Amino acid sequence: MTDVYPTRRTFLKLTAAAGAASVIAGPGRAGAQTATDPAKASDLLLHQDGPNQGKPVKASELKVGTAVWAVAVDPKTKKPRDATKGGVVLVKLASGKIQASSKPNAAGDIVAYSSVCTHQGCPAKEIGSIGQGTGNIICTCHGSIYDPADNATVLGGPAPKRLPALPIKLDGGGQVVAKAGFTGRIGPK
Ligand code: FES
Repeated sequence: MTDVYPTRRTFLKLTAAAGAASVIAGPGRAGAQTATDPAKASDLLLHQDGPNQGKPVKASELKVGTAVWAVAVDPKTKKPRDATKGGVVLVKLASGKIQASSKPNAAGDIVAYSSVCTHQGCPAKEIGSIGQGTGNIICTCHGSIYDPADNATVLGGPAPKRLPALPIKLDGGGQVVAKAGFTGRIGPK
Protein backbone atom coordinates (compact mmCIF):
# COMPACT_ATOMS: atom_id res chain seq x y z
CA MET A 1 0.00 0.00 0.00
CA THR A 2 1.09 3.56 -0.52
CA ASP A 3 1.25 6.06 2.26
CA VAL A 4 -1.01 8.25 0.14
CA TYR A 5 -4.18 6.84 -1.36
CA PRO A 6 -6.67 9.46 -2.48
CA THR A 7 -9.95 8.32 -3.90
CA ARG A 8 -10.99 8.85 -7.49
CA ARG A 9 -13.26 11.62 -6.20
CA THR A 10 -10.28 13.36 -4.55
CA PHE A 11 -8.34 13.12 -7.79
CA LEU A 12 -11.18 14.63 -9.77
CA LYS A 13 -11.51 17.46 -7.25
CA LEU A 14 -7.79 18.15 -7.47
CA THR A 15 -7.77 18.23 -11.24
CA ALA A 16 -10.86 20.43 -11.29
CA ALA A 17 -9.19 22.88 -8.93
CA ALA A 18 -6.03 22.90 -11.01
CA GLY A 19 -8.13 23.48 -14.10
CA ALA A 20 -9.72 26.50 -12.49
CA ALA A 21 -6.27 27.84 -11.65
CA SER A 22 -5.17 27.52 -15.25
CA VAL A 23 -8.19 29.49 -16.40
CA ILE A 24 -7.37 32.23 -13.94
CA ALA A 25 -3.80 32.28 -15.18
CA GLY A 26 -4.97 33.32 -18.64
CA PRO A 27 -4.92 31.88 -22.12
CA GLY A 28 -1.16 31.95 -22.57
CA ARG A 29 -0.60 30.00 -19.41
CA ALA A 30 -3.37 27.53 -20.19
CA GLY A 31 -1.87 26.94 -23.61
CA ALA A 32 1.45 26.01 -22.06
CA GLN A 33 -0.24 23.66 -19.62
CA THR A 34 -1.96 21.67 -22.32
CA ALA A 35 1.35 20.94 -24.03
CA THR A 36 2.33 17.30 -24.24
CA ASP A 37 5.40 18.00 -22.14
CA PRO A 38 4.15 20.12 -19.24
CA ALA A 39 6.95 19.60 -16.73
CA LYS A 40 10.25 21.37 -17.18
CA ALA A 41 13.75 21.15 -15.76
CA SER A 42 13.98 22.49 -12.20
CA ASP A 43 10.26 22.09 -11.56
CA LEU A 44 9.49 21.37 -7.94
CA LEU A 45 7.62 18.25 -6.96
CA LEU A 46 5.06 18.91 -4.23
CA HIS A 47 2.97 16.38 -2.35
CA GLN A 48 -0.50 16.16 -3.87
CA ASP A 49 -2.13 14.95 -0.68
CA GLY A 50 -1.49 13.58 2.77
CA PRO A 51 -0.06 15.37 5.80
CA ASN A 52 2.66 17.01 3.69
CA GLN A 53 0.30 18.24 0.97
CA GLY A 54 1.79 21.23 -0.81
CA LYS A 55 5.27 20.67 0.58
CA PRO A 56 8.29 19.64 -1.49
CA VAL A 57 9.03 15.94 -1.73
CA LYS A 58 12.30 15.08 -0.02
CA ALA A 59 14.36 12.03 -0.81
CA SER A 60 14.63 11.24 2.88
CA GLU A 61 10.84 10.80 3.10
CA LEU A 62 10.69 8.05 0.52
CA LYS A 63 10.68 4.50 1.78
CA VAL A 64 11.25 1.36 -0.23
CA GLY A 65 7.94 -0.21 -1.19
CA THR A 66 5.84 2.91 -0.92
CA ALA A 67 4.87 5.62 -3.36
CA VAL A 68 4.35 9.35 -3.09
CA TRP A 69 1.88 11.21 -5.27
CA ALA A 70 3.21 14.59 -6.31
CA VAL A 71 2.58 17.35 -8.77
CA ALA A 72 5.15 19.19 -10.85
CA VAL A 73 4.90 22.91 -10.28
CA ASP A 74 6.54 25.97 -11.71
CA PRO A 75 9.25 26.92 -9.18
CA LYS A 76 8.50 30.63 -9.57
CA THR A 77 4.71 30.75 -9.56
CA LYS A 78 4.16 27.52 -7.58
CA LYS A 79 1.30 26.70 -9.95
CA PRO A 80 0.81 23.18 -11.33
CA ARG A 81 2.22 22.80 -14.79
CA ASP A 82 -0.90 21.18 -16.10
CA ALA A 83 -4.50 20.88 -15.00
CA THR A 84 -4.73 17.14 -15.49
CA LYS A 85 -1.30 16.02 -16.65
CA GLY A 86 0.95 17.20 -13.86
CA GLY A 87 0.59 14.22 -11.57
CA VAL A 88 3.74 12.32 -10.71
CA VAL A 89 4.20 9.04 -8.86
CA LEU A 90 7.53 8.64 -7.10
CA VAL A 91 8.80 5.27 -6.01
CA LYS A 92 11.92 4.29 -4.12
CA LEU A 93 13.20 0.97 -5.39
CA ALA A 94 14.99 -1.61 -3.34
CA SER A 95 18.76 -1.41 -3.68
CA GLY A 96 19.97 -3.08 -6.87
CA LYS A 97 16.50 -3.47 -8.36
CA ILE A 98 16.64 -0.60 -10.83
CA GLN A 99 17.15 -1.67 -14.43
CA ALA A 100 19.19 0.02 -17.13
CA SER A 101 16.04 1.40 -18.77
CA SER A 102 15.23 3.46 -15.66
CA LYS A 103 18.69 4.57 -14.58
CA PRO A 104 19.10 7.63 -16.86
CA ASN A 105 15.98 9.24 -15.39
CA ALA A 106 16.41 8.22 -11.76
CA ALA A 107 17.94 9.90 -8.75
CA GLY A 108 19.74 6.97 -7.21
CA ASP A 109 17.02 4.42 -6.45
CA ILE A 110 14.18 6.94 -6.80
CA VAL A 111 12.15 6.95 -9.99
CA ALA A 112 9.30 9.19 -11.08
CA TYR A 113 6.58 8.70 -13.68
CA SER A 114 3.43 10.38 -14.85
CA SER A 115 0.61 9.20 -12.59
CA VAL A 116 -1.94 9.48 -15.38
CA CYS A 117 -2.84 5.95 -16.41
CA THR A 118 -2.43 5.38 -20.11
CA HIS A 119 -5.68 3.40 -20.23
CA GLN A 120 -8.34 5.94 -19.31
CA GLY A 121 -6.49 8.49 -17.25
CA CYS A 122 -7.15 7.44 -13.65
CA PRO A 123 -4.37 8.04 -11.11
CA ALA A 124 -1.80 5.24 -11.38
CA LYS A 125 -0.13 5.69 -8.03
CA GLU A 126 -0.87 2.70 -5.86
CA ILE A 127 1.82 0.16 -5.01
CA GLY A 128 0.85 -3.44 -5.60
CA SER A 129 1.13 -6.24 -3.12
CA ILE A 130 0.42 -9.95 -3.45
CA GLY A 131 -1.10 -10.80 -6.80
CA GLN A 132 -0.10 -7.56 -8.42
CA GLY A 133 3.64 -7.89 -8.13
CA THR A 134 5.02 -6.38 -4.95
CA GLY A 135 6.31 -2.89 -5.52
CA ASN A 136 4.67 -2.29 -8.89
CA ILE A 137 2.61 0.78 -9.73
CA ILE A 138 -1.08 -0.06 -9.93
CA CYS A 139 -4.01 1.82 -11.38
CA THR A 140 -6.93 0.66 -9.31
CA CYS A 141 -9.61 1.72 -11.81
CA HIS A 142 -9.15 -1.34 -14.04
CA GLY A 143 -6.02 -2.98 -12.70
CA SER A 144 -3.21 -1.87 -14.98
CA ILE A 145 0.23 -2.74 -13.59
CA TYR A 146 3.45 -0.89 -14.37
CA ASP A 147 7.00 -1.85 -13.41
CA PRO A 148 8.74 1.13 -11.79
CA ALA A 149 12.14 -0.58 -12.02
CA ASP A 150 11.87 -1.05 -15.79
CA ASN A 151 10.80 2.36 -17.09
CA ALA A 152 7.15 1.71 -16.12
CA THR A 153 6.66 -0.96 -18.71
CA VAL A 154 3.18 -2.52 -18.60
CA LEU A 155 3.05 -5.85 -16.75
CA GLY A 156 -0.68 -6.39 -16.86
CA GLY A 157 -4.12 -4.89 -17.30
CA PRO A 158 -5.57 -2.85 -20.16
CA ALA A 159 -2.98 -0.06 -20.31
CA PRO A 160 -1.70 0.15 -23.91
CA LYS A 161 1.67 1.72 -23.12
CA ARG A 162 4.10 2.52 -20.33
CA LEU A 163 3.90 5.61 -18.13
CA PRO A 164 6.23 8.39 -19.29
CA ALA A 165 9.16 8.92 -16.95
CA LEU A 166 9.95 12.24 -15.35
CA PRO A 167 13.74 12.59 -15.16
CA ILE A 168 14.60 13.72 -11.66
CA LYS A 169 17.52 14.83 -9.54
CA LEU A 170 18.07 16.00 -5.97
CA ASP A 171 18.79 19.63 -5.21
CA GLY A 172 21.25 20.76 -2.56
CA GLY A 173 18.61 20.37 0.14
CA GLY A 174 17.70 16.82 -0.78
CA GLN A 175 14.46 17.82 -2.47
CA VAL A 176 13.36 15.96 -5.58
CA VAL A 177 13.16 18.21 -8.64
CA ALA A 178 12.62 17.58 -12.32
CA LYS A 179 15.74 17.26 -14.44
CA ALA A 180 13.76 17.56 -17.68
CA GLY A 181 10.25 17.17 -19.00
CA PHE A 182 8.35 13.90 -19.26
CA THR A 183 9.90 11.45 -21.67
CA GLY A 184 6.70 10.79 -23.57
CA ARG A 185 3.12 11.72 -24.17
CA ILE A 186 0.99 11.69 -21.03
CA GLY A 187 -2.26 9.85 -20.53
CA PRO A 188 -4.40 7.73 -22.82
CA LYS A 189 -3.70 9.63 -26.04
S1 FES B 1 -7.74 3.93 -16.21
FE1 FES B 1 -6.09 2.82 -15.34
S2 FES B 1 -6.53 0.78 -15.72
FE2 FES B 1 -8.16 1.85 -16.65
